[in-house]
Amino acid sequence: MKNSIEVNGLQKVFGKKTAIADVNLQIAEGEIFGLLGPSGAGKTTMIKMLTGELNKTAGDIRVLGMEPTKFHTTTFKAQIGILSDNSALYERLTVYDNLKLFAKLYEAPLSYIDETLEMVHMLDVKKTAINKLSRGMKQRVLLAKALIHRPKLIFLDEPTSALDPGNVAQIHRVLKTLNEAGSTIFINTHNMEEATVLCDRVAFLHEGKIKELDTPKQLRYKYSTHAFHIETFDGEKIAFDNNEENADEIAALIRAGEIKTMHTDNPTLGDIFIKLTGKELV
Ligand SMILES: Nc1ncnc2c1ncn2[C@@H]1O[C@H](COP(=O)(O)OP(=O)(O)O)[C@@H](O)[C@H]1O
Ligand SMILES: [Mg+2]
Repeated sequence: MKNSIEVNGLQKVFGKKTAIADVNLQIAEGEIFGLLGPSGAGKTTMIKMLTGELNKTAGDIRVLGMEPTKFHTTTFKAQIGILSDNSALYERLTVYDNLKLFAKLYEAPLSYIDETLEMVHMLDVKKTAINKLSRGMKQRVLLAKALIHRPKLIFLDEPTSALDPGNVAQIHRVLKTLNEAGSTIFINTHNMEEATVLCDRVAFLHEGKIKELDTPKQLRYKYSTHAFHIETFDGEKIAFDNNEENADEIAALIRAGEIKTMHTDNPTLGDIFIKLTGKELV
């Protein structure tokens, strides 16, 4: 399989601050890849270097087979979509007119406007001015803007932060659908649940370095103690190491009908992040 993104020995220094220390990454075509880390970890800096908004200090970057010197070309821009916190809309124009401007800019057919609005469930408000929309609705228009030219690679910088669960779920559905249709998605988030439900693979970024990189499932298995956590009907919580010596005792609880719940240890991505870095993901 081809890689959409390849990064080797990447570094970004701002004055005395090293934001990205040494990052190596290969992201396959068709993947949903999540870059996880708390505020200040370097996530935005990564996306900006991958999209040509910031120059790297050292290392190699290839996106869609192109080097950063090509990131300003129309060939490159036509193939990528970006949703970041400096994505903006014309507040006094309608939803439709905003998208029309961007469609023209990207030379996308005007028929894509309604199609894209339908995708983000905003077709019924297409004649509404942006300044009349809720935050969640605006974010969905920004997503439509990022998708208007049908990019094959989409970069999203914390696309759901501070949105209500309804809007978050809506955006996740759109991203899943796009991915099923073949788009590669690179998403920055500090929301571990988002990463768990959405991403094929996640990387933990801490102090400019990648500390772990794997599927959410594999990471949760790797950092599990594999212990059995049992809660009895009396409200007692017991953890048994997962070994033969405990089999009789667990069987006795089952026979006595005392077990209310039982599961193997299954840390969240947030638990793992804390274990690795000593820091919360927020
Ligand atoms: N333009 C800049 N000038 C100086 N420092 C910056 C600049 N942009 C980011 N940084 C610093 O680099 C680090 C990573 O920032 P950022 O990539 O925004 O992290 P995140 O998106 O994970 O919150 C932070 O310490 C931040 O203060
Ligand atoms: Mg950021």
